[in-house]
Amino acid sequence: MNVFGVDIGGSGIKGAPVDLERGKLAQERHKVLTPHPSTPDAVADGVAEVVSQFDWAGPVGITFPGVVTSGITRTAANVDKGWVDVDAATLLGDRLGGLPVTILNDADAAGIAEMTFGAGRGRKGTVMLLTFGTGIGSAVFIDGRLVPNTELGHLELHGHDAEKNASTRAKDDEGLSWHHWAHRVQKYLQHVEMLFSPELFIIGGGVSRKADKFVPLIKGIRAEIVPAELQNNAGIVGAAMAAAGG
Ligand code: BGC
Repeated sequence: MNVFGVDIGGSGIKGAPVDLERGKLAQERHKVLTPHPSTPDAVADGVAEVVSQFDWAGPVGITFPGVVTSGITRTAANVDKGWVDVDAATLLGDRLGGLPVTILNDADAAGIAEMTFGAGRGRKGTVMLLTFGTGIGSAVFIDGRLVPNTELGHLELHGHDAEKNASTRAKDDEGLSWHHWAHRVQKYLQHVEMLFSPELFIIGGGVSRKADKFVPLIKGIRAEIVPAELQNNAGIVGAAMAAAGG
């Protein structure tokens, strides 16, 4: 079965029909730039534009870079503040001509995809996917079951919001070397490990493609650390899986 998945990110809104048996895109994805300011209306137009490139009439799963409970977007750390307490499922469903819409946190979506088709396949115990990008996203699984909206990117580290210190945006903005940044990621992972003692950390986000540049530099963590396998498409695949009901 195919279901449509859309990933709303800081730079782009990407989507494609997903083949749920294989966990792969069934067609090449379409991408539009994320509007600035990224207001709910402007982003909804972008989502509609992506879906309209395909002859699609079924369910649509959509990721959002913030807390989502029962279709309502609750936080907006790296998008327009107008998203706080918006009934996004209704807004996006209306904009898509009444198609059934499921909306969930972006890291949760990526985690769902990785647990079934990627680095978390068959893994029991506590597994954490952490996405490093504009922010830090987290998805926590206990024996394969998601604890949604964990928001571990906003843990306080040295008195600051952790994602301001250890995201790839911090690396870029401050011009940090891989070594310097890996050290910050290490401190962050140590803090998360102290709190949760996971068996496995899956490192996601665009930077997972360059895992060989920084994962070997991270020391002193008991848990296994592996890069995500679905990389850029994890959000789209996970969104489609969520819309299909799991
Ligand atoms: C948001 C999370 C999101 C993460 C990655 C954080 O700033 O609070 O909800 O998963 O960024 O986009």
